[in-house]
Amino acid sequence: MLKTGICNLSQIKNGVKFKDLFGKEKNLSITLYDQICQESNADELAERILLLFSDERGAYKRTYAKRFEEFDQASLGHIKGYFEEKTSLYIHDAAVSDGRTAVDFFEKTKELFPKLEYLASDFNPKVYVLEKGRLKVTVSHTAKILEVLWPPFVFNTIKRDSWRYYPLNHFIRLAIQYFIVPSLINSYQRGELKAKELMLFAPSALNRARTDQRFILGTHNLLQPFNRQYHIIRAMNVLNISYFTKNEFFQVLRNIHSGLLNDGLFITGSNQDAGSLVNGGVYKKTANGFEQIWQSGTGSPIANYISQFDQ
Ligand SMILES: C[S@@+](CC[C@H](N)C(=O)[O-])C[C@H]1O[C@@H](n2cnc3c(N)ncnc32)[C@H](O)[C@@H]1O
Repeated sequence: MLKTGICNLSQIKNGVKFKDLFGKEKNLSITLYDQICQESNADELAERILLLFSDERGAYKRTYAKRFEEFDQASLGHIKGYFEEKTSLYIHDAAVSDGRTAVDFFEKTKELFPKLEYLASDFNPKVYVLEKGRLKVTVSHTAKILEVLWPPFVFNTIKRDSWRYYPLNHFIRLAIQYFIVPSLINSYQRGELKAKELMLFAPSALNRARTDQRFILGTHNLLQPFNRQYHIIRAMNVLNISYFTKNEFFQVLRNIHSGLLNDGLFITGSNQDAGSLVNGGVYKKTANGFEQIWQSGTGSPIANYISQFDQ
């Protein structure tokens, strides 16, 4: 069985089906990410693209708008009781994926703290599209191949389609990947071919950053130190065992601890779909670690590491 993908905007405008005969999602090319921004359902289309896409580490950029409204309201209650309203609040919301949950929290926070700088970052929100004739190859910042588009096919090279259902797709992908793609990558690495940069933030987050200078989009790796100190650092749905090893968790906690101003707040938690219970909490920075000041659900999935952490 052959699986084709969605390669251009006109297919979407003409009402193409998003599922194939097996009921599996068709790959919606990441190269359409900037083109869908003008569509009325831009955020929905962007979400669909990112749901199938994964970065070079195989990590999905998966999130939903209004994912943790109740948790946000409760966290805000703590922030309000903690900082004076006139404070110029510096917040770093890390690992925001496409940034929609960051927009949600920014909107609520700015009502209480109008003087605000809100940085929403992700591990690496940029990808680069190389194009030659019909072929488009999307690569990461390290030139790792993430997607190959060869109409009518869209191959996700990191999270691949099933061999069992689509063996022919794999033979076509392998042929393109081994015989055609390398010369394109070589030209790019020699500087002979220009790439188009795509920022994988949701249209609503990109628009907010354009219209409100208090909301900033950026890049940050939680395994690296923060480059300034913040009143609040938030890390939602990322401090899970699928992302980090035990040693890495302690590294992340060390970075968060030193990235917070004295008595700053660390907000963290994990949940599933939009509106589901968040297991997490709000922590206060202490001289050597963190003290939990509020718990939601059963607490953070890494609560034991947070309580063991000693600077
Ligand atoms: C499931 S999403 C969470 C998005 C959003 N915070 C939410 O709660 O809906 C996890 C995000 O963590 C990011 N991530 C994974 N490892 C990271 C790291 N070392 N530094 C920063 N972000 C990372 C991924 O790129 C992905 O966008």
